[in-house]
Amino acid sequence: MIVKPASQGSSVGMSRVERASELPAAWRAATQHEPVAFAEPWITGAEYTVAILQGKALPAIRIETPRSFYDYEAKYLRNDTRYFCPSGLAVAAEADLAALALSAFDACGAEGWGRADFMMDSQGRALLLEINTVPGMTDHSLVPMAARAAGIDFDELVWRVLETSLVRTTC
Ligand SMILES: Nc1ncnc2c1ncn2[C@@H]1O[C@H](COP(=O)(O)OP(=O)(O)OP(=O)(O)O)[C@@H](O)[C@H]1O
Ligand SMILES: [Mg+2]
Repeated sequence: MIVKPASQGSSVGMSRVERASELPAAWRAATQHEPVAFAEPWITGAEYTVAILQGKALPAIRIETPRSFYDYEAKYLRNDTRYFCPSGLAVAAEADLAALALSAFDACGAEGWGRADFMMDSQGRALLLEINTVPGMTDHSLVPMAARAAGIDFDELVWRVLETSLVRTTC
């Protein structure tokens, strides 16, 4: 299983647990950050993220790391994390992932822009890990990477994100 703090980000406080004896330390690591932690079954499979901009999904990114999972080190410190965009998924699977990302976003009442993270299980089913409502926006971040693949440069992306914050009035 994997143990996570309930509302952190950047994989902070997360541990993979392979045997019961590792659980107390994983729980302590997670609850160092906040009182609520949870555990999920470990998923073995490829990892994908789908950025959403103005109600549409951008091309999926497949993430590969030689580490046990996409942890803090793999995200920010290592140079052996690999990102593939286009993701290598077949057209239909890419469309399914995009639809799933949009419906997850919708189900949470999110709108505008963001990112949904997935893993594929051994049967090729996409499992939603989480949605991110304010994902990273450095020039190395995943949303700008997906936007680039769709022909949207960083400045244009920032404008489009700002456009999502324009308030609609009904009067
Ligand atoms: N159930 C799982 N099975 C296997 N690996 C997992 C599982 N859940 C998460 N992971 C790994 O841990 C990473 C971080 O998980 P998650 O996205 O839930 O955390 P986060 O801290 O909210 O991340 P973010 O920086 O995207 O906000 C995932 O990208 C994935 O590599
Ligand atoms: Mg994540």
